[in-house]
Amino acid sequence: MLGKKIIEFDRIDSTNNYIKLNIDKLDTGTIVISKHQSSGYGRMKRTWYDDGSNLTFSVLLKLSDTKRITLLTQVAAASVRNALSELGFESHIKWPNDILVNDKKICGILLESILDDKEVNVILGIGLNVNMRDFDLEIKNKATSMFLESNEEFQLYDVLNKIIVNLNKYYECFLKGRLDYLDVCRKHSYVIGKFVMLDSASSKKVLVKGIDDEGRLIVDINGEEVTYYGSEVSLSSIYRT
Ligand code: BTN
Repeated sequence: MLGKKIIEFDRIDSTNNYIKLNIDKLDTGTIVISKHQSSGYGRMKRTWYDDGSNLTFSVLLKLSDTKRITLLTQVAAASVRNALSELGFESHIKWPNDILVNDKKICGILLESILDDKEVNVILGIGLNVNMRDFDLEIKNKATSMFLESNEEFQLYDVLNKIIVNLNKYYECFLKGRLDYLDVCRKHSYVIGKFVMLDSASSKKVLVKGIDDEGRLIVDINGEEVTYYGSEVSLSSIYRT
């Protein structure tokens, strides 16, 4: 069960790093959470900002093979989206790792994996802006928090519990080969039906047609449907990662 063991810190460099350094001692499903991270990071090693008022945590998943592990990002995205919905927030998933509310990023997901002889260790890092009131100038117009969207403060552990319940449900689906979480990602996608720029061909906009059963983007390039294997896309001026 995910979250059966939760290791809490007041301050740590990064919850993903902590799991990486202690991977042999930790059981699958362990969650590591810290009030503050001094070196929290996201994709492309971008800094993940926090002021102690948000949720920053990581989940360790030990699997026997690498089959379809990238789908775990979608498991996490659907779980956070549903938890936000239960709390009254309408959010959309910007494939593959971001959750947006009113066109602004409220949550980022980082999947890292470590392979050894006998197992595959997946670390799912989740940063959800809960009670943050102010963002640095450089991200102010593209980031938001639950507080900024509702003028209401939330108990971090109430929000965490809702995410954990959903994570357990969708991780179970993943293990059984069911794709319920992908339906959530498709239904609440921020990119399906929109023109995006792929990171491999950044100047060219392509239409997103859907998400396939491997969690990859299906895009239309010159009238032909192509599967996109990259790790992110950007939309014109509305939102850029
Ligand atoms: C992204 O948007 O690029 C992903 C951000 C992931 C941030 C979380 S916060 C908890 C965990 N620990 C980290 O250092 N990063 C992830």
